[in-house]
Amino acid sequence: MRRNRMRMTFWRACGLVAVGCALALPAAAQDSILAATPPMGWNSWNHFACKVSDAVVRASADAIASNGMKAAGYVYVNIDDCWQGQRDSSGMIHGNAKFPDMKALGDYIHSKGLKFGIYSSPGPKTCAGYEGSYKHEEDDAKQYAAWGVDYLKYDWCSAGRVYKAEDMPAVYKKMHDALASTGRPIVFSLCQYGLRRVWEWGASVGGNLWRTTGDIWDNYDRMYSIAHAQDGIEQHTGPGHWNDPDMLEVGNGKMSRDEYVTHMSMWCMLSAPLLAGNDLAKMSAETLAILTNPEAIAIDQDPKGVQAHWAWQVGPYEIWAKSLADGSTAALLINRGEDTERLTANFRDIGVSGTKNVRDLWAHKDLGQFTDSFSADVRPHGVVMVKLR
Ligand code: GLA
Repeated sequence: MRRNRMRMTFWRACGLVAVGCALALPAAAQDSILAATPPMGWNSWNHFACKVSDAVVRASADAIASNGMKAAGYVYVNIDDCWQGQRDSSGMIHGNAKFPDMKALGDYIHSKGLKFGIYSSPGPKTCAGYEGSYKHEEDDAKQYAAWGVDYLKYDWCSAGRVYKAEDMPAVYKKMHDALASTGRPIVFSLCQYGLRRVWEWGASVGGNLWRTTGDIWDNYDRMYSIAHAQDGIEQHTGPGHWNDPDMLEVGNGKMSRDEYVTHMSMWCMLSAPLLAGNDLAKMSAETLAILTNPEAIAIDQDPKGVQAHWAWQVGPYEIWAKSLADGSTAALLINRGEDTERLTANFRDIGVSGTKNVRDLWAHKDLGQFTDSFSADVRPHGVVMVKLR
């Protein structure tokens, strides 16, 4: 409760200037910020869509708790669309036939030391046509809190039928306030595809993260274009409030290993939320290794919370750089071409100078000392991700 009071005080104090505000807080208050680092977990949508069920969610929680993902930092188990059933005579929402007991499901997730996430829309219907929260915001916030929900993704969907676009900040704030009044800390994930430059106001309405684009697909070009759409909005991400380039597609089968490593690396460089979107109960060892690479995750979860900037590009070759809390820098060398290419990161382009120790974060190898530049062979549709100290 004390932690939650501190959180609410934080939002009141930061109000409309929430961006960057976290950094001005004393360390004890920073600990109490929800989503102090980008949220990590799993979400049902990318793989299961409306085929999600209580059994799928339990199996995903079992997998996270036992396969090394929890130890790597994945904690949220999030049901996306298609769980909703009917409202009862007092207006309270219940799960549909595939979710017979939401409280028991939440208890099960919590019993594994994990957190429980859910999904709704401010409109009358969700994107898949299920019951939304329109005119039931407080009922739903209360119900979620009673179920032990720790995370809400709130997806615009049909809200455009009942609200004007300029109402969007107030509509999101309404649900934030309803969640806050339950007294339960609930991560608030805004999903409205980046409309009206949400990164400029998402934190001020209580958002902990906000989608910046339309939906990701399990496709290299789509994944890459979404990553690139984050360029220029770096200043809006930071502890407690994150630009969200959408959930991971790693392991869903339509990209190669190098492409999935690129996807994971780009998300980690961006300080993006890491929500696995695959079938955790059936994934390969290769997929698990990509999702749980501790050295990549450390870049994502770096407490400074900086979003990488696009430092250099020639044709299909590019380099991104990210400054880290310990004073070091992460660099990502990206090859979008069709042949292996030797790429050189000039230190001046990535904001470092002199001699640096370079470590390869996918090969898990120290590569030695380099002065003024670092070069590596990068496979087609692959990356080399390094840390320079
Ligand atoms: C929208 C969102 C997706 C997913 C679906 C569910 O498309 O952007 O992430 O939540 O709705 O219907």
